[in-house]
Amino acid sequence: MKMIVIRASDVDGYSNNYPAGIIERLISLSNTIFQIDDSKSKNASGDVVKYSSPAEWKRRLALRNGRGLIVACMEPEHETQSSCSTGTAEEKSQIQEADDAGFGKPIGFLFAHPRSHSDEPLTNGALETMHIWLAGVLPEFRRQGLLEQMVVKLMEEMMGIEENLTVCTVPARFPAMWGWLKGRGWAVEKEIAPGKFLLSYQAQAPTKSG
Ligand SMILES: CC(C)(COP(=O)(O)OP(=O)(O)OC[C@H]1O[C@@H](n2cnc3c(N)ncnc32)[C@H](O)[C@@H]1OP(=O)(O)O)[C@@H](O)C(=O)NCCC(=O)NCCS
Repeated sequence: MKMIVIRASDVDGYSNNYPAGIIERLISLSNTIFQIDDSKSKNASGDVVKYSSPAEWKRRLALRNGRGLIVACMEPEHETQSSCSTGTAEEKSQIQEADDAGFGKPIGFLFAHPRSHSDEPLTNGALETMHIWLAGVLPEFRRQGLLEQMVVKLMEEMMGIEENLTVCTVPARFPAMWGWLKGRGWAVEKEIAPGKFLLSYQAQAPTKSG
């Protein structure tokens, strides 16, 4: 398993650090983890929901001069079967292109971007955080520490620019995430909607000496 970091500059059309289908591939992974099938990928008006929209993913990567980032865990393709069963023919061909480039199959990811809290600062006074918008690991790869490794990688990549992490979650829907956060010192900031909580964590760049 290897971990890759994807930024706006990797997918903005001017740089070819990753093959063209990487965002679509990660959206396919996200749709699988969050069980967004074709019937749920569009809203009542026929628009693709934000969680499944390449345009929305790219917009969030580009926030604050491109400080959004995705950390993804990639498994070599020969070790697993592809789970990318949804998507248009064009998306599938982009996914095949990513396979061909030898990046392997994404099995877990974390998407974080700067988020302003100027309307209501965190309890420690922070006005801006690195916010984990989405995170997930395929069921067969859970409980191996992948989320832990991805969060550590995120903190390394932040390099002190935003010192606080935030995430929103719904404990009733995502009990594993809730247990993970509560077991690692994340603090509940507030209930932002019925059953949905904003949590924060003081990020620290891990020391190399451990
Ligand atoms: C929440 C989620 C991302 C966690 O991913 P994960 O990679 O399994 O997380 P980790 O492996 O880092 O930690 C999970 C547990 O495995 C344990 N673990 C870590 N390494 C382990 C190992 N080598 N052997 C056994 N257990 C291990 C951890 O201690 C942790 O348990 P704890 O929280 O009770 O301490 C995953 O369950 C998921 O995708 N859920 C559905 C989507 C979701 O909820 N997303 C978040 C929405 S807000």
